[in-house]
Amino acid sequence: MILDENMNKKRVLSGMQPSGRIHLGNLMGAIENWKKLQEEYHSFYFIADWHALSTNYENTENLREYTFQMVVDWFAAGINPEKATIFLQSHVKDHAVLHLLLSMITPVSWLERVPTYKDQQAQMTKKDLSTYGFLGYPVLQAADILMYRADFVPVGIDQLPHLELTREIARRFNTLYQKELFPDPKHLLTNFPKLPGLDGRKMSKSYENAIFLSDSEKEVWDKLRTMLTDPARKRRTDKGNPDICPVYDLHKIFTEAEKLPDVAEGCRTAGIGCIDCKKILHTSMKLTLDPIRENRMRLALNKKRIDEILDEGSKAASHEADKTLQMVKDAMRLN
Ligand code: TRP
Ligand code: SF4
Repeated sequence: MILDENMNKKRVLSGMQPSGRIHLGNLMGAIENWKKLQEEYHSFYFIADWHALSTNYENTENLREYTFQMVVDWFAAGINPEKATIFLQSHVKDHAVLHLLLSMITPVSWLERVPTYKDQQAQMTKKDLSTYGFLGYPVLQAADILMYRADFVPVGIDQLPHLELTREIARRFNTLYQKELFPDPKHLLTNFPKLPGLDGRKMSKSYENAIFLSDSEKEVWDKLRTMLTDPARKRRTDKGNPDICPVYDLHKIFTEAEKLPDVAEGCRTAGIGCIDCKKILHTSMKLTLDPIRENRMRLALNKKRIDEILDEGSKAASHEADKTLQMVKDAMRLN
């Protein structure tokens, strides 16, 4: 919510595409960071549903459900709409206006140079990404960020090129219209280590190796049971090396520090089996996941309240967006 005391605070803004339920990688990599930031800064967190269209324009039927599931996860994990402004990109229509205005001053060559452009086209061969909207993805992201004149943008490394482009567009605007309107947005990288998924690769929804906040206790256990371990431990009596085991990487995040040496020692000496080791991890994870699961169940029942919160947040965001857009129009002499 917009409180007067927010007036002088530095501003943080970040967004996520509505990919549905969120997993432990999202939780530790982004949400935990957002939670800290909401205590200190005037924070804006939003669902980038228009961005999702850039690659998923053919399948829009799940967009609303995915948005709902994601917001429920945010709130269950501790994102607090009393502290941060939570909104839906498509509810703040000024993002489209600023996107249009910024698109007028952004050279196509800048966009073609953004590494994600060619990378994603090469990766998602099943989709036709030769669209105008996909090329303009980073301009829309620049509009999201500059709209709130954000000072800090917490994002993962993969987003740095988008942020660099945002700065270039901001500078070009300021120079062209001779006004220091947009501050230079700085990235805040989470220095959280990548969380491994069940197959040892980075946890990701698209790799189907993720543990979701919404998984039941049993589902989490079924996933952990089959999770990749040090392949040297084929039999219970084989000794292992926790330093190369993704299960141990999860221990380092979820298990209390005092218990870690025993787990590592048990692995190295074959004092414990992998199933024992995973049971300990499952118990540690419960400490994080149980309260989230409880919140989740409660929140998911009250769809109306979630909609209301998003509406209120989107109104508050629109209020801020309107202020910026007036300044933009003044600078461009469009008023
Ligand atoms: N591109 C970001 C992602 O895929 C999502 C996003 C859209 C975003 N607009 C933003 C992130 C503005 C930070 C700031 O993760
Ligand atoms: Fe990995 Fe634990 Fe098995 Fe060691 S005992 S290989 S750390 S699962």
